[in-house]
Amino acid sequence: MDNSPALARTNAAVTLPNSVLVSAKQPQAKVGTDFDRAMMQRCLELARRALGRTSPNPLVGAVVVKDGKIVGEGFHPRAGEPHAEVFALKAAALHARGATVYVNLEPCNHYGRTPPCSEALIAAGVAKVVVGMVDPNPLVAGGGIARLRAAGIEVVVGVEERACRKLNEGFIHRILYKRPFGILKYAMTLDGKIATTSGHSTWVTNQEARQIVHQMRAACDAVIVGGNTVRLDNPRLTSHQQQAHNPLRVVMSRSLQLPEQAHLWETKEAPTLVLTEVGANPAFKEALLKQGVEVVEFPQLTPEQAMTYLYERGFCSILWECGGTLAARAIASKAVQKVVAFIAPKIIGGSNAPTPVGELGLTAMTEALSLEDVEIRVVGSDCLIEGYLPLQQ
Ligand SMILES: NC(=O)c1ccc[n+]([C@@H]2O[C@H](COP(=O)([O-])OP(=O)(O)OC[C@H]3O[C@@H](n4cnc5c(N)ncnc54)[C@H](OP(=O)(O)O)[C@@H]3O)[C@@H](O)[C@H]2O)c1
Ligand SMILES: [Zn+2]
Repeated sequence: MDNSPALARTNAAVTLPNSVLVSAKQPQAKVGTDFDRAMMQRCLELARRALGRTSPNPLVGAVVVKDGKIVGEGFHPRAGEPHAEVFALKAAALHARGATVYVNLEPCNHYGRTPPCSEALIAAGVAKVVVGMVDPNPLVAGGGIARLRAAGIEVVVGVEERACRKLNEGFIHRILYKRPFGILKYAMTLDGKIATTSGHSTWVTNQEARQIVHQMRAACDAVIVGGNTVRLDNPRLTSHQQQAHNPLRVVMSRSLQLPEQAHLWETKEAPTLVLTEVGANPAFKEALLKQGVEVVEFPQLTPEQAMTYLYERGFCSILWECGGTLAARAIASKAVQKVVAFIAPKIIGGSNAPTPVGELGLTAMTEALSLEDVEIRVVGSDCLIEGYLPLQQ
C-alpha cells in the first residue's frame, strides 16, 4: 500500500466534507412534498438566469405543472418586463387551466409597471399555487396569497423557504431597511494578510476561489474599492464570463489622486463610477468624464453616503472588495451585512502587511463581531468562510 505523504494528504482532503454548516439556525420543518421541493428548486434555477439584472426587482422563476409534468416555465428578466408568472402562464397556454403553479416569491397583487400576477393566475384558471416565501414588504405581505385564496385557489406557502430567502437576500434587505445589502469579500493568507508589506496581492487564492468571486460579481449590482486598491492593484472587477452581467464598478476616492491609466477607466466592457468629494482634483475629474467614467461628488464621502446613493439608483446588492481601511469604515457604518472570506493556506508574514479589516475601535475580545449562520467550504486548496454580521439597523 502506498502511504506516501502526498497520498495521505490527498486522502485527508477527500474525506473532508465539502460544506459544513457550523452555526445554522434551527433547521426548518420541510414544507411540501419532494416533488414540490424539486419544482421550487427549478424556479430558483430559472430565476438565476437573470442574476444581477433585475434590481430593484427580485429574482423570480415560475413553473406550471399539469399531471406531474412541466407545461410552462418563465423568469423575470429585468425591471419593467413582465413577471415570471406571466411568462410561465404564456408558455403553458391552455394547459394552465387546473394546473399547479410554483413560484419562489408571493405573486404580486398591485398594479405596478405590470398588472398584478394574482389576477393573471386567477384568469388562467389555475387550481393551486405553491409559493416559496411571502412578499418581504410588510405593507403588501400576504395580499397576493389572500387574493388567490379568495378566488378559490389552493395556496401552499414556504416550500424551500430558506433557499428562496437566500437567493433574494439583497432584495429583501433593500425592502426592509431601505439600503442595499452589503457583502464584504476578501482573500487572506493563513496569517491574516491581504497583501505583502509592499502592497502586492495578486494572487492570494487559487483559480477556483477566483472563479467564485467572478460569480459573486455577476450576481451583484455594484462592486466597490477604495483609491488605494486602484493605485496598488489596478483591478478589472469584471465577472470574466461570457454573457454574464458585469456590476457597476465603483471607486471611492476622497483625494481623486488616482492613476491616469487604469483598467477601471476602460468602460467598454463595464461601466465605472467614481465617488469623490466636492472640488477634489478637478483636472483629473475632467479626464475621467472624457473617458466615459461617471463621477459623483459629495461634501463628505462616507460608506453611508455611498450606500444611500446606490439605494437611490435602485441597487439591491453591493460587493465590497476594498482593502482593510475602507472595509473597517464600511462595517462601522453598517454598510456590510455579510462577510465572505477566502483563506489560502500560505504565510506571508510582515508586521505591517495589510489585514482585511482595519481599525474598529474594539479592545476586548468579548466585543468581537461574531458571524451568524456560518458556512465553511473547501474550495480547491483554499477555504471559504461566509456568514452574516449580527443584524444591525
Ligand atoms: N486580498 C484582498 O482581498 C484585497 C482586496 C482589496 C484590496 N487589497 C489590498 O489592500 C490594500 C489597500 O488597502 P486599503 O485599506 O488602503 O484599501 P482601499 O480599498 O483602497 O480603501 C482605502 C481608500 O478608500 C478611499 N476612501 C474613500 N472614502 C473613504 C472613507 N470615508 N474612509 C476611508 N477611506 C476612504 C481612500 O481613497 P483616496 O486615498 O484615493 O482618497 C482610501 O485611501 C492593497 O494592498 C490591496 O492590494 C486586498
Ligand atoms: Zn407579479
